[in-house]
Amino acid sequence: MKILVTGGGGFVGARLARELLQRGQLMGRPITELAIADQAPPPADLLADARVKVHIGTLLAQAPLFASGFDGVFHLASAVSGECELDFELGLRSNLDSTRLLLDGLRQAGNTPRLVFSSSVAVFGPDASNPLPDRVGDLTLPSPQTSYGTHKLMCEYLIADYTRKGYLDGRSARLMTVCVRPGRPNGAASSFFSGIIREPLAGIETTCPVDADVTHPVASPASTVRCLITVFEASPEALGGRLAINLPALNVRVGDMLQALQDVAGPQVRQRVRFERDARIAAIVAGWARGASAERAQALGLRPDASFHAIIEQYIADMRAAGLQASALGGLPS
Ligand SMILES: NC(=O)c1ccc[n+]([C@@H]2O[C@H](COP(=O)([O-])OP(=O)(O)OC[C@H]3O[C@@H](n4cnc5c(N)ncnc54)[C@H](O)[C@@H]3O)[C@@H](O)[C@H]2O)c1
Repeated sequence: MKILVTGGGGFVGARLARELLQRGQLMGRPITELAIADQAPPPADLLADARVKVHIGTLLAQAPLFASGFDGVFHLASAVSGECELDFELGLRSNLDSTRLLLDGLRQAGNTPRLVFSSSVAVFGPDASNPLPDRVGDLTLPSPQTSYGTHKLMCEYLIADYTRKGYLDGRSARLMTVCVRPGRPNGAASSFFSGIIREPLAGIETTCPVDADVTHPVASPASTVRCLITVFEASPEALGGRLAINLPALNVRVGDMLQALQDVAGPQVRQRVRFERDARIAAIVAGWARGASAERAQALGLRPDASFHAIIEQYIADMRAAGLQASALGGLPS
Protein backbone atom coordinates (compact mmCIF):
# COMPACT_ATOMS: atom_id res chain seq x y z
CA MET A 1 0.00 0.00 0.00
CA LYS A 2 1.15 3.50 -0.78
CA ILE A 3 0.21 5.69 2.17
CA LEU A 4 0.39 9.48 2.61
CA VAL A 5 0.58 11.12 6.02
CA THR A 6 0.23 14.90 5.87
CA GLY A 7 1.55 16.57 9.01
CA GLY A 8 3.86 13.60 9.55
CA GLY A 9 6.47 15.94 11.01
CA GLY A 10 4.14 16.92 13.85
CA PHE A 11 3.29 15.48 17.26
CA VAL A 12 0.49 13.06 16.34
CA GLY A 13 1.56 12.58 12.70
CA ALA A 14 5.09 11.42 13.52
CA ARG A 15 3.75 9.01 16.13
CA LEU A 16 1.19 7.70 13.66
CA ALA A 17 3.85 7.23 10.95
CA ARG A 18 6.04 5.34 13.43
CA GLU A 19 3.16 3.06 14.41
CA LEU A 20 2.26 2.38 10.75
CA LEU A 21 5.86 1.47 9.94
CA GLN A 22 6.03 -0.80 12.95
CA ARG A 23 2.80 -2.59 11.98
CA GLY A 24 4.00 -2.81 8.39
CA GLN A 25 0.46 -3.26 7.07
CA LEU A 26 -2.99 -1.70 6.92
CA MET A 27 -6.13 -3.74 6.33
CA GLY A 28 -3.88 -6.78 5.90
CA ARG A 29 -1.96 -5.22 2.98
CA PRO A 30 1.77 -4.44 3.33
CA ILE A 31 2.80 -0.78 3.45
CA THR A 32 5.35 -0.44 0.68
CA GLU A 33 5.68 3.36 0.73
CA LEU A 34 4.88 5.92 3.40
CA ALA A 35 5.01 9.48 2.07
CA ILE A 36 5.20 12.30 4.59
CA ALA A 37 4.15 15.78 3.49
CA ASP A 38 4.91 18.52 5.97
CA GLN A 39 6.51 21.93 6.01
CA ALA A 40 8.74 20.68 8.85
CA PRO A 41 11.03 17.65 8.58
CA PRO A 42 9.97 14.50 10.45
CA PRO A 43 12.12 13.00 13.23
CA ALA A 44 15.33 11.18 12.28
CA ASP A 45 14.04 7.66 12.96
CA LEU A 46 11.34 8.14 10.31
CA LEU A 47 13.83 9.57 7.81
CA ALA A 48 16.00 6.50 8.31
CA ASP A 49 13.28 4.05 7.20
CA ALA A 50 13.64 3.05 3.54
CA ARG A 51 9.85 3.02 3.07
CA VAL A 52 9.59 6.71 4.00
CA LYS A 53 9.59 9.38 1.27
CA VAL A 54 9.65 12.93 2.60
CA HIS A 55 8.07 15.91 0.83
CA ILE A 56 8.96 19.10 2.66
CA GLY A 57 7.01 22.26 1.96
CA THR A 58 3.55 23.71 2.37
CA LEU A 59 0.74 21.46 1.19
CA LEU A 60 -0.27 24.11 -1.33
CA ALA A 61 2.99 23.39 -3.20
CA GLN A 62 2.37 19.62 -3.37
CA ALA A 63 -0.36 19.25 -6.01
CA PRO A 64 1.54 16.71 -8.19
CA LEU A 65 2.21 14.54 -5.14
CA PHE A 66 -1.47 14.38 -4.20
CA ALA A 67 -2.43 13.27 -7.71
CA SER A 68 0.27 10.58 -7.81
CA GLY A 69 -1.99 7.72 -6.72
CA PHE A 70 -2.16 6.85 -3.00
CA ASP A 71 -4.09 3.91 -1.59
CA GLY A 72 -4.59 5.57 1.78
CA VAL A 73 -4.21 9.03 3.30
CA PHE A 74 -4.06 10.32 6.86
CA HIS A 75 -4.58 14.07 6.60
CA LEU A 76 -3.23 15.68 9.76
CA ALA A 77 -1.36 18.80 8.61
CA SER A 78 -3.02 21.82 10.10
CA ALA A 79 -2.32 25.21 11.57
CA VAL A 80 -3.35 25.18 15.25
CA SER A 81 -6.19 27.16 16.84
CA GLY A 82 -4.12 30.02 18.27
CA GLU A 83 -2.28 30.56 14.96
CA CYS A 84 -5.54 30.68 13.00
CA GLU A 85 -6.99 33.30 15.37
CA LEU A 86 -3.88 35.46 14.97
CA ASP A 87 -3.62 35.09 11.19
CA PHE A 88 -6.93 34.63 9.39
CA GLU A 89 -5.33 34.14 5.95
CA LEU A 90 -2.90 31.52 7.25
CA GLY A 91 -5.80 29.51 8.66
CA LEU A 92 -7.68 29.62 5.38
CA ARG A 93 -4.61 28.58 3.38
CA SER A 94 -3.33 25.85 5.70
CA ASN A 95 -6.60 24.30 6.77
CA LEU A 96 -9.13 24.93 4.03
CA ASP A 97 -7.35 25.64 0.72
CA SER A 98 -4.77 22.89 1.34
CA THR A 99 -7.45 20.32 2.08
CA ARG A 100 -9.32 21.25 -1.07
CA LEU A 101 -6.10 20.85 -3.10
CA LEU A 102 -5.43 17.47 -1.50
CA LEU A 103 -8.94 16.19 -2.15
CA ASP A 104 -8.84 17.34 -5.77
CA GLY A 105 -5.47 15.63 -6.31
CA LEU A 106 -6.89 12.40 -4.94
CA ARG A 107 -9.95 12.81 -7.13
CA GLN A 108 -7.77 13.31 -10.23
CA ALA A 109 -5.82 10.14 -9.46
CA GLY A 110 -9.14 8.36 -9.81
CA ASN A 111 -8.51 5.31 -7.60
CA THR A 112 -10.92 6.18 -4.72
CA PRO A 113 -8.35 6.12 -1.90
CA ARG A 114 -9.35 5.77 1.72
CA LEU A 115 -8.75 8.93 3.76
CA VAL A 116 -8.90 9.80 7.46
CA PHE A 117 -9.06 13.47 8.37
CA SER A 118 -8.09 14.69 11.84
CA SER A 119 -10.93 16.97 12.79
CA SER A 120 -11.30 18.35 16.28
CA VAL A 121 -13.61 18.70 19.23
CA ALA A 122 -13.17 22.43 18.44
CA VAL A 123 -16.02 22.09 15.91
CA PHE A 124 -18.28 22.37 18.97
CA GLY A 125 -18.94 25.63 20.73
CA PRO A 126 -21.73 27.49 22.44
CA ASP A 127 -24.06 29.66 20.39
CA ALA A 128 -27.01 31.68 21.70
CA SER A 129 -29.25 29.43 19.60
CA ASN A 130 -27.41 26.23 20.47
CA PRO A 131 -26.07 26.01 24.06
CA LEU A 132 -23.41 23.36 24.65
CA PRO A 133 -24.60 20.23 26.42
CA ASP A 134 -22.46 18.88 29.26
CA ARG A 135 -21.08 16.28 26.89
CA VAL A 136 -20.93 16.80 23.15
CA GLY A 137 -21.94 13.66 21.27
CA ASP A 138 -21.56 12.49 17.67
CA LEU A 139 -24.85 14.15 16.81
CA THR A 140 -24.51 17.40 18.75
CA LEU A 141 -24.89 20.23 16.24
CA PRO A 142 -21.43 21.78 15.78
CA SER A 143 -21.31 25.55 16.08
CA PRO A 144 -17.59 26.40 16.06
CA GLN A 145 -16.47 29.60 17.75
CA THR A 146 -13.02 29.83 16.14
CA SER A 147 -11.67 29.97 12.60
CA TYR A 148 -9.83 26.70 13.27
CA GLY A 149 -13.03 24.93 14.32
CA THR A 150 -14.87 26.41 11.36
CA HIS A 151 -12.28 25.13 8.87
CA LYS A 152 -12.32 21.69 10.48
CA LEU A 153 -16.10 21.53 10.10
CA MET A 154 -15.94 22.73 6.47
CA CYS A 155 -13.38 20.03 5.69
CA GLU A 156 -15.55 17.37 7.36
CA TYR A 157 -18.39 18.29 4.99
CA LEU A 158 -16.11 18.46 1.93
CA ILE A 159 -14.81 14.98 2.72
CA ALA A 160 -18.33 13.64 3.20
CA ASP A 161 -19.33 15.09 -0.17
CA TYR A 162 -16.25 13.80 -2.08
CA THR A 163 -17.11 10.43 -0.54
CA ARG A 164 -20.76 10.67 -1.58
CA LYS A 165 -19.59 11.37 -5.12
CA GLY A 166 -17.31 8.31 -5.05
CA TYR A 167 -14.08 10.34 -5.44
CA LEU A 168 -12.69 8.92 -2.22
CA ASP A 169 -13.64 6.83 0.77
CA GLY A 170 -13.28 9.49 3.45
CA ARG A 171 -13.91 9.67 7.15
CA SER A 172 -13.37 12.43 9.70
CA ALA A 173 -12.39 11.69 13.28
CA ARG A 174 -12.74 14.43 15.86
CA LEU A 175 -9.68 14.32 18.08
CA MET A 176 -9.93 15.28 21.71
CA THR A 177 -7.12 17.32 23.30
CA VAL A 178 -4.09 15.07 23.09
CA CYS A 179 -2.21 14.95 26.38
CA VAL A 180 0.67 14.99 27.31
CA ARG A 181 2.27 16.84 24.42
CA PRO A 182 6.09 16.70 24.74
CA GLY A 183 8.51 19.51 23.99
CA ARG A 184 7.77 23.18 24.24
CA PRO A 185 4.36 24.82 24.70
CA ASN A 186 2.70 25.54 21.33
CA GLY A 187 0.33 28.28 20.16
CA ALA A 188 -2.83 26.39 21.12
CA ALA A 189 -4.91 27.88 23.94
CA SER A 190 -5.23 24.29 25.23
CA SER A 191 -1.45 24.07 25.60
CA PHE A 192 -1.64 24.33 29.41
CA PHE A 193 -3.48 20.98 29.70
CA SER A 194 -0.16 19.39 28.79
CA GLY A 195 1.98 22.12 30.39
CA ILE A 196 0.65 21.50 33.92
CA ILE A 197 1.95 17.92 33.68
CA ARG A 198 5.02 18.27 31.44
CA GLU A 199 6.68 21.28 33.10
CA PRO A 200 6.55 20.05 36.73
CA LEU A 201 7.87 16.63 35.62
CA ALA A 202 10.80 18.47 34.03
CA GLY A 203 11.36 20.39 37.29
CA ILE A 204 9.90 23.66 35.98
CA GLU A 205 7.43 25.80 37.95
CA THR A 206 4.29 26.62 35.98
CA THR A 207 0.84 28.15 36.31
CA CYS A 208 -2.63 26.81 35.64
CA PRO A 209 -4.72 29.57 34.04
CA VAL A 210 -8.18 28.08 34.80
CA ASP A 211 -10.00 26.91 37.94
CA ALA A 212 -9.63 23.39 39.32
CA ASP A 213 -13.29 22.66 38.51
CA VAL A 214 -12.88 23.10 34.74
CA THR A 215 -13.43 19.79 32.96
CA HIS A 216 -12.09 18.87 29.53
CA PRO A 217 -12.10 15.86 27.14
CA VAL A 218 -8.60 14.46 26.65
CA ALA A 219 -6.90 11.41 25.13
CA SER A 220 -3.36 10.08 25.16
CA PRO A 221 -1.23 10.12 22.00
CA ALA A 222 -1.13 6.30 21.89
CA SER A 223 -4.91 6.07 22.13
CA THR A 224 -5.34 8.79 19.48
CA VAL A 225 -3.07 6.98 17.02
CA ARG A 226 -4.80 3.65 17.68
CA CYS A 227 -8.15 5.32 17.03
CA LEU A 228 -7.00 6.92 13.77
CA ILE A 229 -5.85 3.54 12.47
CA THR A 230 -9.06 1.81 13.56
CA VAL A 231 -11.16 4.49 11.85
CA PHE A 232 -9.06 4.02 8.71
CA GLU A 233 -9.55 0.26 8.73
CA ALA A 234 -13.30 0.36 9.45
CA SER A 235 -15.54 -0.50 6.54
CA PRO A 236 -18.08 2.15 5.45
CA GLU A 237 -20.80 -0.18 6.78
CA ALA A 238 -19.14 -0.41 10.20
CA LEU A 239 -18.81 3.37 10.32
CA GLY A 240 -22.47 3.68 9.54
CA GLY A 241 -22.60 7.03 7.75
CA ARG A 242 -20.38 9.73 6.33
CA LEU A 243 -20.62 12.25 9.15
CA ALA A 244 -17.62 12.80 11.41
CA ILE A 245 -17.24 10.73 14.56
CA ASN A 246 -15.99 11.78 17.99
CA LEU A 247 -12.97 9.85 19.21
CA PRO A 248 -13.26 8.54 22.79
CA ALA A 249 -12.53 11.05 25.53
CA LEU A 250 -11.50 10.84 29.13
CA ASN A 251 -13.51 13.70 30.61
CA VAL A 252 -11.33 15.01 33.38
CA ARG A 253 -11.37 17.85 35.95
CA VAL A 254 -8.24 19.98 36.12
CA GLY A 255 -8.09 19.36 39.89
CA ASP A 256 -8.16 15.60 39.24
CA MET A 257 -5.39 15.93 36.62
CA LEU A 258 -3.20 17.52 39.29
CA GLN A 259 -4.20 14.91 41.88
CA ALA A 260 -3.15 12.22 39.38
CA LEU A 261 0.18 14.03 38.95
CA GLN A 262 0.66 13.95 42.71
CA ASP A 263 -0.27 10.25 42.88
CA VAL A 264 2.11 9.29 40.05
CA ALA A 265 5.02 11.68 40.64
CA GLY A 266 4.73 12.85 44.25
CA PRO A 267 3.75 16.05 46.08
CA GLN A 268 6.97 17.93 45.24
CA VAL A 269 6.16 17.65 41.54
CA ARG A 270 2.51 18.64 42.06
CA GLN A 271 3.57 21.71 44.05
CA ARG A 272 5.33 23.16 41.01
CA VAL A 273 1.88 24.05 39.60
CA ARG A 274 0.27 27.21 40.96
CA PHE A 275 -3.24 28.38 40.10
CA GLU A 276 -3.03 31.83 38.49
CA ARG A 277 -6.15 32.70 36.58
CA ASP A 278 -5.62 34.10 33.08
CA ALA A 279 -8.87 35.81 32.09
CA ARG A 280 -8.11 35.51 28.34
CA ILE A 281 -7.43 31.76 28.44
CA ALA A 282 -10.27 31.14 30.91
CA ALA A 283 -12.71 32.89 28.56
CA ILE A 284 -11.55 30.77 25.59
CA VAL A 285 -11.80 27.56 27.60
CA ALA A 286 -15.29 28.52 28.80
CA GLY A 287 -16.38 28.33 25.15
CA TRP A 288 -15.17 24.74 24.74
CA ALA A 289 -16.88 21.41 25.28
CA ARG A 290 -16.63 20.38 28.94
CA GLY A 291 -16.81 16.72 28.01
CA ALA A 292 -17.55 14.43 25.09
CA SER A 293 -19.13 11.08 24.38
CA ALA A 294 -18.26 8.82 21.47
CA GLU A 295 -20.97 6.23 20.84
CA ARG A 296 -20.00 5.58 17.22
CA ALA A 297 -16.31 5.11 18.05
CA GLN A 298 -17.38 2.81 20.87
CA ALA A 299 -19.30 0.71 18.35
CA LEU A 300 -15.96 0.27 16.51
CA GLY A 301 -14.49 -1.11 19.74
CA LEU A 302 -12.68 2.10 20.72
CA ARG A 303 -12.46 3.11 24.39
CA PRO A 304 -11.08 6.14 26.24
CA ASP A 305 -7.83 5.94 28.19
CA ALA A 306 -8.31 4.04 31.46
CA SER A 307 -7.39 7.01 33.69
CA PHE A 308 -5.42 10.24 33.75
CA HIS A 309 -2.86 8.38 35.87
CA ALA A 310 -2.33 6.05 32.88
CA ILE A 311 -1.90 9.05 30.56
CA ILE A 312 0.85 10.50 32.78
CA GLU A 313 2.52 7.10 33.08
CA GLN A 314 2.47 6.78 29.28
CA TYR A 315 4.25 10.14 28.96
CA ILE A 316 6.90 9.16 31.50
CA ALA A 317 7.49 5.82 29.72
CA ASP A 318 7.74 7.60 26.34
CA MET A 319 10.29 10.09 27.64
CA ARG A 320 12.36 7.26 29.13
CA ALA A 321 12.18 5.28 25.88
CA ALA A 322 13.35 8.35 23.95
CA GLY A 323 16.30 8.78 26.34
CA LEU A 324 14.99 12.15 27.55
CA GLN A 325 15.03 11.44 31.30
CA ALA A 326 17.39 14.30 32.12
CA SER A 327 15.55 17.01 30.19
CA ALA A 328 11.92 15.88 30.37
CA LEU A 329 11.84 14.08 33.73
CA GLY A 330 14.49 15.99 35.67
CA GLY A 331 11.89 17.00 38.27
CA LEU A 332 10.99 13.45 39.32
CA PRO A 333 12.30 12.53 42.76
CA SER A 334 15.16 10.02 42.48
N1 LIG B 1 -2.96 17.70 19.43
C1 LIG B 1 -4.23 17.91 19.78
O1 LIG B 1 -4.56 18.07 20.96
C2 LIG B 1 -5.30 17.93 18.71
C3 LIG B 1 -6.63 18.06 19.10
C4 LIG B 1 -7.61 18.09 18.11
C5 LIG B 1 -7.25 17.98 16.78
N2 LIG B 1 -5.95 17.88 16.44
C6 LIG B 1 -5.60 17.79 15.03
O2 LIG B 1 -4.73 16.68 14.84
C7 LIG B 1 -3.77 16.98 13.83
C8 LIG B 1 -2.37 16.75 14.36
O3 LIG B 1 -2.18 17.58 15.51
P1 LIG B 1 -0.75 17.76 16.15
O4 LIG B 1 -0.96 18.04 17.58
O5 LIG B 1 0.15 16.66 15.72
O6 LIG B 1 -0.28 19.10 15.45
P2 LIG B 1 1.21 19.61 15.16
O7 LIG B 1 1.15 21.08 15.11
O8 LIG B 1 2.19 18.97 16.09
O9 LIG B 1 1.49 19.01 13.72
C9 LIG B 1 0.90 19.55 12.59
C10 LIG B 1 1.91 19.47 11.47
O10 LIG B 1 1.32 20.05 10.31
C11 LIG B 1 2.33 20.80 9.65
N3 LIG B 1 1.67 21.84 8.87
C12 LIG B 1 0.87 22.84 9.32
N4 LIG B 1 0.44 23.60 8.30
C13 LIG B 1 1.01 23.06 7.18
C14 LIG B 1 0.95 23.39 5.80
N5 LIG B 1 0.22 24.42 5.36
N6 LIG B 1 1.66 22.65 4.93
C15 LIG B 1 2.40 21.59 5.36
N7 LIG B 1 2.48 21.22 6.65
C16 LIG B 1 1.79 21.96 7.54
C17 LIG B 1 3.21 21.36 10.74
O11 LIG B 1 4.51 21.65 10.25
C18 LIG B 1 3.20 20.23 11.77
O12 LIG B 1 4.31 19.37 11.62
C19 LIG B 1 -4.06 18.39 13.38
O13 LIG B 1 -4.91 18.34 12.25
C20 LIG B 1 -4.81 18.99 14.55
O14 LIG B 1 -5.66 20.04 14.14
C21 LIG B 1 -4.97 17.84 17.37
